[in-house]
Amino acid sequence: MRKSFVAGNWKMNTDVNSGVKLAEGVVSGCNDLAGKIDIAVCPPFVYLQQVGKALQTSHIALGSQDIYFEQKGAFTGEISASMLKDVGCTYAICGHSERRHVIGETDDLINKKVQAAITGGILPIFCVGELLDERKANKTAEVVTRQMKKGLAGLTEEKMAAVTVAYEPVWAIGTGLTATPQQAQEVHALIRKLLAEMFDRKIADTIRIQYGGSVKPDNARELMNQEDVDGLLVGGASLKADDFVAIVKASV
Ligand code: PGA
Repeated sequence: MRKSFVAGNWKMNTDVNSGVKLAEGVVSGCNDLAGKIDIAVCPPFVYLQQVGKALQTSHIALGSQDIYFEQKGAFTGEISASMLKDVGCTYAICGHSERRHVIGETDDLINKKVQAAITGGILPIFCVGELLDERKANKTAEVVTRQMKKGLAGLTEEKMAAVTVAYEPVWAIGTGLTATPQQAQEVHALIRKLLAEMFDRKIADTIRIQYGGSVKPDNARELMNQEDVDGLLVGGASLKADDFVAIVKASV
């Protein structure tokens, strides 16, 4: 059985005070769920420490929205795995579609980030997903297969065990357009098949695959009911404690 895993991606939102308040709201709302579900929140880098303090006595994990693959040195503006560990991070989102398509990250760069995260003791949440034009052109499977193969290239089975995959169709992110549960399930099943081919059956059966893209309290359960949907990566709705807690509760 795969334990459900819901993560909140706060993106470039909140300030110190509202971030801490949001984290406190998540902690109090999810208080009674320890052991039943894995939960993480991913604030902006600059608020990790303060938000981490608010999570300290809870079972809610801290995650970053990105990571750099070098360990230290002259890489202005970048943040390494050891720095993330130092401030209490458990997870790092790698290859989010906004980093792929707004910032211009490539599959190769994302692969280095995934590798560096695992080596540095950080669990990657590795994101894949097609653009609207790619879906319209029936290229979803092709795009997701390429992102999976390149992004996870060179990982051993042992290292792969640290990874959560997140399927986030780009056309569903922040648009209010959620993939239907069937559309999500179809791609999740493809991802699991790819994991079996690229690694082995055990990895395929144990790796958690999150869905992301306009997840809301009222569609979370239906998505989670799909066989291969093991969790959710929540953007906009993770900025309101009540909504995020409702999504978590619908996912237990
Ligand atoms: P959204 O974002 O829930 O606001 O669509 C999801 C994500 O980008 O992780």
